[in-house]
Amino acid sequence: MITVSVPSKIHLLGEHAVVYGKPALLAAINKRIFVTVSGAEKKKIDDPSLEKLKRIIESTIKKKYRISKIPLYSISISSHIPAGSGLGSSAALSAVLTFALLTFLGKRVDKSTIFDIAYEGEAFFHGKPSGGDLATVIEGGLLWYRKDFEFLKMFTPLPFRPHKNIGKFILINSGKPKESTREMVDIVARLKKSNPKKTKALFESQEELTKQMVKALKSGDENKLINCIRFGERNLEELGVVGEKSQSIIKAIERLGGAAKINGGGGAKNGSGMLLVYHKDIKKVLKHVRKNNLEVLRIQIGVEGLRRDE
Ligand code: MEV
Repeated sequence: MITVSVPSKIHLLGEHAVVYGKPALLAAINKRIFVTVSGAEKKKIDDPSLEKLKRIIESTIKKKYRISKIPLYSISISSHIPAGSGLGSSAALSAVLTFALLTFLGKRVDKSTIFDIAYEGEAFFHGKPSGGDLATVIEGGLLWYRKDFEFLKMFTPLPFRPHKNIGKFILINSGKPKESTREMVDIVARLKKSNPKKTKALFESQEELTKQMVKALKSGDENKLINCIRFGERNLEELGVVGEKSQSIIKAIERLGGAAKINGGGGAKNGSGMLLVYHKDIKKVLKHVRKNNLEVLRIQIGVEGLRRDE
């Protein structure tokens, strides 16, 4: 029996723009998904979308390692990642299954091989993902990610820890999005087609803000960090990926002196998943959250990537 796990992720900034070659800043967070694999006598059928994902990963492994058959196995999944919340649950599932299966087959592999195989699985959910979510859940820590071409995806861990002035981020649940990540990516693709000038300017602004955010984390400049989140969120609203429900939660946090943004694909029709929130005095936000009956998730950022647990 083998148990492996990967964390989930947040986008500090750069989501959507990253699909078009701009950088994104991501962090692994302490909500993990665990998979246990063991050998089986009979084939066990899981739910249809998990079956499909297993088949894609199995066939990619078979091709890559020239294996004709994978021995029968059964898996059990235990996830602490709220699905459809922008925390990269599909990338995490694809990565953890890939790692579990390769370990079950006795393959000692590097992270980049796991990335390449799991990317095929994530593409099943998303169409053409940037790969940023996947790189973060595999690698862990805080990651600077960019996909310049389909065949050239680059990332590097931030070579420093956030300055001690930088306090804790929290997540606030704005509600499950009605749309899938793929649909949210399509909204931006349509805007890019109908208004290329506007989207180009938004992506460029997002790139600059993502860079400024790295500097703010390094120097411990909280005002700068708050501004990056606020302006980054405005750009995401202009891209059409933030619904009214989330916008009103975000405005209320800004009135308290903090900043919040969607995290990942977002959502336009109803909720937009987990909002990333920062405040110099987070207690003020927590008080507001309690008063308004909002769901909050306390997180730790920069945690370990994939690992073998048993
Ligand atoms: C989804 O978590 C992030 C997006 O930028 C899509 C992607 O990077 O593949 C919206």
